[in-house]
Amino acid sequence: MKITVIGTGYVGLVSGTCLAEVGNDVLCLDVDPAKIKILEEGGIPIHEPGLLEMVRRNREAGRLKFTTDIQQAVEFGDVQFIAVGTPPDEDGSADLQYVVAAARNIGKYMTNYKVVVDKSTVPVGTADKVSAAIAEELASRKVDIAFSVVSNPEFLKEGAAIEDFMRPDRIVIGVADEASQEVMRTLYAPFQRNHERLVVMDVRSAELTKYAANAMLATRISFMNELANLAEILGADIEHVRKGIGSDPRIGYDFLYPGCGYGGSCFPKDVKALIKTGKANHYDLKVLNAVEEANDVQKHVLTQKIKNHFGSNLVGKHFALWGLAFKPNTDDMREAASRVLIQDLLDAGATVTAYDPVAMDEASRIFKNTQGLSFAKTQNLALDDADALVIMTEWKEFRSPDFSEIKQKVKEKIIFDGRNMYDPKVVKNAGIEYRPIGRLTK
Ligand SMILES: NC(=O)c1ccc[n+]([C@@H]2O[C@H](COP(=O)([O-])OP(=O)(O)OC[C@H]3O[C@@H](n4cnc5c(N)ncnc54)[C@H](O)[C@@H]3O)[C@@H](O)[C@H]2O)c1
Repeated sequence: MKITVIGTGYVGLVSGTCLAEVGNDVLCLDVDPAKIKILEEGGIPIHEPGLLEMVRRNREAGRLKFTTDIQQAVEFGDVQFIAVGTPPDEDGSADLQYVVAAARNIGKYMTNYKVVVDKSTVPVGTADKVSAAIAEELASRKVDIAFSVVSNPEFLKEGAAIEDFMRPDRIVIGVADEASQEVMRTLYAPFQRNHERLVVMDVRSAELTKYAANAMLATRISFMNELANLAEILGADIEHVRKGIGSDPRIGYDFLYPGCGYGGSCFPKDVKALIKTGKANHYDLKVLNAVEEANDVQKHVLTQKIKNHFGSNLVGKHFALWGLAFKPNTDDMREAASRVLIQDLLDAGATVTAYDPVAMDEASRIFKNTQGLSFAKTQNLALDDADALVIMTEWKEFRSPDFSEIKQKVKEKIIFDGRNMYDPKVVKNAGIEYRPIGRLTK
């Protein structure tokens, strides 16, 4: 098939590359010439394990191309995937300007039947807006060309995006007509050879499914974070509680890890957008309001622990920070808890030296010219002159640190751990104080 992917970010680039991998001809469009330049020169603009090799392989095979030329991109694909960003608007609702702009471009340049696929996470009713934008452009050109709009939300996880796309748990397709359903079935056949993974439904239900999934996962996290905070007060250990409830098949183990708050490009904005959708329809989503509120509080939990130890004035204190990305295996720092913590520490007068295996360039861009924040080349160099070590991302390389070096370098011999990486006994036996989230440390 000939496929155009509009928007070459995390979702667009992974989707386009995986669709090329199974033999399709894919053209990826982006309005950001810097991104396309990197891709045309054989690099990739993001960190995603395995992606660079897959992009190279498919470029060399001639199946994957990149462009900034909108007309060429629209003319190319019989299927047009819209994978542009849907950031939160000022009021928290999803900003659809990029989706609508992409739709308008399709209407402006299409010359034959197109299946237009909304892959971006978009509120219920967006497919109608996409249809209307395309129809308006066609009308102003005074042409009548058929098209279908499909909802196909993406469930990939950054850091495991290729595996998720190549071997999905499910492929949700919201369709309004047989022709586009057939196209989507053919398109996704190579990704479900083992068993049927397609869940076909109406367009509105598909749009809502994506928000429901992210809202449910965010709810589990906020629930566990609150219980972890309570466990601390009660003298219980959340790790035992997690195992105790996770073993119940109705609950399961996934997404029950307490920590210093969820971040990333999806959960925060999708929870906000769903709350907003509720409000716009005069329905108050009480659970999700609480999920969001609990998460906002949780992002300051480590700051509070640090202040409980050092006092609220942190002038003259220096912190080593391990982990900047919102989760491991990505350089994405959108809504990362580390951003809140860094700002809290700097506001209280402290200085910070941070280390992250891949997100330091992104952090330098975000915190450009910020006084008091520096970066170290290795995790152990970050410890130099630190009063305490703070952990914000559970990177594998932090799992088994050299505790004797931490003890020797960190003046107060204390670790504040926002990801519960260590066995409290091991840290204690190393002669280091340990402040995780919701765990017994005595
Ligand atoms: N990142 C994830 O893990 C993830 C997972 C599932 C779903 N999603 C959803 O997928 C969508 C895209 O997310 P992302 O993380 O890939 O975003 P991103 O910001 O990484 O990429 C979006 C890209 O679209 C480009 N763009 C914007 N307007 C354009 C236009 N009119 N024409 C062509 N290109 C345009 C931007 O330049 C950018 O490169 C969002 O709705 C997001 O919620 C993201």
